[in-house]
Amino acid sequence: MRLALCWFFLFLVGCSGVYGHEEYFNENLKISSLQDGRVSTTFSFETILKGVPPRDPRLLNAPDSSQHYIVFPLALGQILREYAVTELHLTLNAGSWNYERWGYPEESGVGTGAELWAWMGAGAPMSIDDRWQGLRNALAGLFCASLGTLDEQRTTSPTHSYFPHGILPSWNGSSAHELRHGSMPSEHVCTENLTPFLKLLPCKSLSGIASLLNPHRIFDADWHGLGIHVLWSGESGIKVRLSFQGVMDPLRPSISQKRDWSLESLFGRSIERSCPAANSSNIYVTLPSEAYNISPEPSKIVGQLASYDILGDKSFNVAMKWPRSFQYSPSYETSVPISVVRTLRGATQASGKLSLVISNHRSTPQSLVYLETMPWLVQFQLHTLHARVDGRIRDDVISNISYMAPVPHSRPATFQAELRLAPRSVTHLTMDVDKAFLRYTEHPPDAQRGWDLPPAVLIPILSDTEDNHTRSSNRQRLGQPIYTSTLLVDVATPDFSMPYNVIIFTCSLIAFIFGSVFNLLTRKFVVIGPDQPPEK
Ligand SMILES: *[C@@H]1O[C@H](CO)[C@@H](O)[C@H](O)[C@H]1NC(C)=O
Ligand SMILES: *[C@@H]1O[C@H](CO)[C@@H](O)[C@H](O)[C@H]1NC(C)=O
Ligand SMILES: *[C@@H]1O[C@H](CO)[C@@H](O)[C@H](O)[C@H]1NC(C)=O
Ligand SMILES: *[C@@H]1O[C@H](CO)[C@@H](O)[C@H](O)[C@H]1NC(C)=O
Repeated sequence: MRLALCWFFLFLVGCSGVYGHEEYFNENLKISSLQDGRVSTTFSFETILKGVPPRDPRLLNAPDSSQHYIVFPLALGQILREYAVTELHLTLNAGSWNYERWGYPEESGVGTGAELWAWMGAGAPMSIDDRWQGLRNALAGLFCASLGTLDEQRTTSPTHSYFPHGILPSWNGSSAHELRHGSMPSEHVCTENLTPFLKLLPCKSLSGIASLLNPHRIFDADWHGLGIHVLWSGESGIKVRLSFQGVMDPLRPSISQKRDWSLESLFGRSIERSCPAANSSNIYVTLPSEAYNISPEPSKIVGQLASYDILGDKSFNVAMKWPRSFQYSPSYETSVPISVVRTLRGATQASGKLSLVISNHRSTPQSLVYLETMPWLVQFQLHTLHARVDGRIRDDVISNISYMAPVPHSRPATFQAELRLAPRSVTHLTMDVDKAFLRYTEHPPDAQRGWDLPPAVLIPILSDTEDNHTRSSNRQRLGQPIYTSTLLVDVATPDFSMPYNVIIFTCSLIAFIFGSVFNLLTRKFVVIGPDQPPEK
């Protein structure tokens, strides 16, 4: 059997030579213990399609070259080529990432709900907005998520905050690309999104690291989210990375307050066999600084990172044990330089006040890019934007504001600014907002719940001392984004239950009258004498 499989794969590898591009599938799992005793697990499945550029958007009307892939996900490849998408990032997350306790996430896109952004080349026969709409609907179908609702009312183009992670190709000397971004905070990730996600992997969830993705355990995690990232990196080709992140709590089922974990205890499964289609398959465990016990012995330790190569036909489990029970003591030295609290205050349904409290924990000044993408139903009053440090209004905190005003019933607002935080300071930003009055058809079915507003994003600007890479000419070097929590806004809502009550009441009355009249009209009345037997 194994020999047959071997021949089969040799045959496949031979085929890849015929079609002229190489494909590689690398998978890995990173496990690290967090400061508060939880365990962060990050799955990453990367497929590389070597030597293939993204589709030239100017040739969208011409027939496309045929697509023959071995490990590259065909369903995703077809969507990317159909709409000539150069770079794509889709994340679906549940819960809000706690930067103070957990530090930076391994995969930076942790905004609550769904977030989709794409870079697309200009000059196509189809407009970028039409392609963006097609892309949203195609991805919504592929991942069973309501991305179709990321319509023009939620689409922005925040080019000061989102930069391509890969390279944007230049076709015929011009590399005009446009960014489209949308987020949907009320979208939740669940098993129906995981199943199509697993189908894009060459080994599905049958073998290899993906077999640990057990929906019963991972959707029970304190935080979880999945991501799809597509980018082009020049000569090494198109990279598709599917990622899954989860923050598990081994202390929850533990009576003795021990942080001990194993693959079996985290996922309810261990790896039975490795994925034969993978080029590499590794498990990385971050080793703690205090006493611990890990089994089996890692095949390689580099710094604090132990790695296991699990390629080959064998079962695998790894377990980490601590001799002592765990006591959480919050420390204020986190890897994240700032912390943010965003709230929407005000009790009326017509206006409110957006407030941001940003603390800089470092002893150096920190510059940030601040991005708000707000649906039109909350409108900023920019002249009321003030920054206070220690109670005093400061004019030098906010600079370089770029603002795209919302269009009622269609476009959202995009607000981008640069903030400069003093060392070890707390900055309060406040701004008055107006809440719109919606048409009754614009309310969601659960109108009384309110509207979810997307998270704000704060991106630290790296200073030169922190970062020795050469600055590119027109773009600042940005650090990892920090997503704030989402907000829930209460807009003026009509009493939808009143017409409902009237309809219910009228319907009951009509049903009652109709029933009685129908009964009277169709019933046959006959007179039967006391000594007469009833008619058959
Ligand atoms: C590319 O540019 C050259 C001249 O620079 C032009 O002759 C050619 O038609 C262009 N091709 C396309 C597809 O636009
Ligand atoms: C294939 O795996 C090896 C490690 O096993 C790695 O060094 C190499 O970069 C991988 N190839 C590609 C194209 O990713
Ligand atoms: C504002 O942004 C422009 C480019 O986007 C940059 O050249 C300029 O230095 C910025 N100004 C400040 C005060 O940061
Ligand atoms: C940056 O480069 C300087 C010298 O060019 C060096 O002294 C410094 O350690 C470097 N910093 C980092 C963070 O690598």
